[in-house]
Amino acid sequence: MSSPADDGAAEKSNNNNNDFTVTPWEVEGEVDYNRLIEKFGTQPITQELLQKIKSMTGEVHPMLKLGYFFSHRDFDWILDKKQKGENFYLYTGRGPSGMVHMGHLMPWMFTKYLQDKFDSKLLFQLTDDEKFLYGQDRTREETKRYTYENILDIIAIGFDPKKTKIIVDTKHIEHLYPIATEVAKRITFSTAKAVFGFTNSTNIGMIGFPPIQAAPCFLPSIIEGKNTPVLIPAAIDQDPYWRMTRDVADRMGYYKPAQVHSKFLPGLGMMGKMSSSKPETAIFTTDEPEVVEKKVSSAFTGGQPTIALQRQLGANALGCPVFWYLRYFFDTEKQSDERMLKCKSGNLLCGECKADLAKGAKPFVVEFKKRREKAKDVVAKFMYDEKPIEP
Ligand code: TYM
Repeated sequence: MSSPADDGAAEKSNNNNNDFTVTPWEVEGEVDYNRLIEKFGTQPITQELLQKIKSMTGEVHPMLKLGYFFSHRDFDWILDKKQKGENFYLYTGRGPSGMVHMGHLMPWMFTKYLQDKFDSKLLFQLTDDEKFLYGQDRTREETKRYTYENILDIIAIGFDPKKTKIIVDTKHIEHLYPIATEVAKRITFSTAKAVFGFTNSTNIGMIGFPPIQAAPCFLPSIIEGKNTPVLIPAAIDQDPYWRMTRDVADRMGYYKPAQVHSKFLPGLGMMGKMSSSKPETAIFTTDEPEVVEKKVSSAFTGGQPTIALQRQLGANALGCPVFWYLRYFFDTEKQSDERMLKCKSGNLLCGECKADLAKGAKPFVVEFKKRREKAKDVVAKFMYDEKPIEP
């Protein structure tokens, strides 16, 4: 995979004081999410909003309760619309640059929960064009292969086939392009540079791409023949696209798309988000259980250099990827809170947490792989044009 510097796009465009970077193409350093809320101008998820969700769905999803989804724009407005009888679409996506890892699954699992609770239709975009353009050494064949493989993961999440349509940019472009040109016409190069950090060395495909990711925000209004609210669940790295899109929505006569933003699932290495470009620190849905075991056993933790020191000083759960994996995927809230206390007080050793993680993650990938296999039979049902797509 080429480095961001090779691609010349958005280098550190949203860098905050140089200690972390969050762009759609690069997440580096220890992200300060509160600062991102300020910098990106989003809203924190408040207790009031959680109460509203609870009153409508009967529960608060653990990813909301635990603050994994931590920020939003107009989520409250979308819920008001729903209460008044106006249905909203969900829209999320994937850039097929590699196999899917557990980090990607988080927003998709949350999207499924929203689909189930609010009975929403979902558009799922695969930006094979973006990933081909971005990766200097990446071939069309590669993005095509990953597109198919990633679609199996998306279907394996369990979305409702009657309410879910997958859009592959290079296949279904005729549905996006008319909207994308409307968006593109309203955005100057100077705005695109400011939002995405494009430079003179960015290839012009990348510069022209953002309106294609904006297009599904407005496609529901065209499908439904009336202005239709859209909610986008995704990690916060995608936010530049939505800032740009919200800016033109009014002028195009559409509602601004709403967002709910998640944090990043960390990689099993020392810092940064889980990323396909660091495969040894990511658990892929296609990993064999032995590989999962190996990755978990070599994971970085918040532990002390020796057992004696750990017993004496305790460890740093909050800076430990193993802790976060367990918290988001496999522990109940109660178990996780207890784990944190025991870890901090030196009553829990890293080996024990790693063993718990391996115990959860191994059957998880085995089960997920079975669902991916079954997905092969129903791909066409999910595609926007209901036509099969070749592996
Ligand atoms: P991509 O393929 O980089 O990421 C897919 C989704 O996964 C989120 N994500 C993560 N979430 C938690 N932890 C991580 N370590 C992690 N890494 C990635 C991303 O925020 C995203 O939600 N351009 C997009 C594709 C796209 C899209 C969309 C995404 C097109 N339309 C609408 C979200 C919503 C991309 O390359 O995503």
